[in-house]
Amino acid sequence: MSTTSQHHASVTLPPIHVPPHPKWPPLEGERLVAMKERIKSLLRQQDAVLVAHYYTDGLLQDLAEETGGCVADSLEMARFGTTHPASTLVVAGVRFMGETAKILNNEKRVLMPDLNASCSLDDGCPHELFADFCDQHPDHTVVVYANTSAEVKARADWVVTSGIALAIVQHLASQGKKILWAPDRHLGAYVQKMSGADMLFWPGSCVVHEEFRAVALERLRRLHPGAAVLVHPESADAVIAQADVVGSTTVLIKAAASLPNREFIVATDKGIFNKMRQVAPGKVFLEAPTVGEGATCQSCANCPWMGMNSLHSLARVLEVGDNEVHVDADLAKRAQVPIRRMLDFAAALKRSATAGACPSEPA
Ligand code: 13P
Ligand code: SF4
Repeated sequence: MSTTSQHHASVTLPPIHVPPHPKWPPLEGERLVAMKERIKSLLRQQDAVLVAHYYTDGLLQDLAEETGGCVADSLEMARFGTTHPASTLVVAGVRFMGETAKILNNEKRVLMPDLNASCSLDDGCPHELFADFCDQHPDHTVVVYANTSAEVKARADWVVTSGIALAIVQHLASQGKKILWAPDRHLGAYVQKMSGADMLFWPGSCVVHEEFRAVALERLRRLHPGAAVLVHPESADAVIAQADVVGSTTVLIKAAASLPNREFIVATDKGIFNKMRQVAPGKVFLEAPTVGEGATCQSCANCPWMGMNSLHSLARVLEVGDNEVHVDADLAKRAQVPIRRMLDFAAALKRSATAGACPSEPA
């Protein structure tokens, strides 16, 4: 690990409006079965496949798998859409995930249950402000997190997700590149600490992960000394510092299955517990404490934008056919370049992991 100092952009970010967590009518028994059957038949009729994120409602995640779709982290969601033959992709996640699917699959129809499903990182990085920041640092390689708009991606040299960020920055640092990083300052700080790269940061953050509290986590760990601590790197450094495993949603789920611990304290959106309980039955998963403990929290470890996806909103969009994601063709062409660079790098990394070599520079 390196201790290189951090430099932040001096920009004033727009205020982030965090919506209340949507409340959906409960679905149980026959009504649940009927709703699932209706969605299955709509998916078949429309040659559509469901691609869901681990933070969405567990019923949606399970339905995606039951119907031949996938539930995944944001890297795998992007990759899945490019390999599946369905002519319609239904993306249950947040807007950048639907946009990425459309950018990579221009010929496909991409639907989302709710186009208002944003992300505080995306909202906190307006493309005009970001372009100014890039213009001020033309000697830097621009690396942006996938949680950004198509316009911000179009300005980037590389797009990364939490699953591949460290490997890509290490690769760039080994070439002596200076990096302009946006928008998540916590993930950026973690990557910088682990890679020693020379990095400039955009000051964005995830409102969900920022609510985890380090002191309360220390207390909880003392109460559960045998528990392993799993942390998503969008959390603050004092929380990351207490982790046994830091990583993408996929990495955390794999750790829940493979570590011998019986108890886990998990610092990420609680939607992930659905898959963790499936892969590690019998183990106990505890929520890492948020600012909500004894006070009020905005998200309480449950992303309100991810919460806009439900069986209700999925059935509705399949019936009505609105909420189609559109990305201007020229913009998509430009945004596609750094996304494909990431996917090619990930594929090379996978190949080299099997062969035991370093990935070569992707095209
Ligand atoms: P993953 O790529 O790790 O699934 O993360 C996406 C995200 O939005 C986390 O808040
Ligand atoms: Fe964005 Fe945070 Fe929600 Fe992930 S959890 S989609 S980073 S607001």
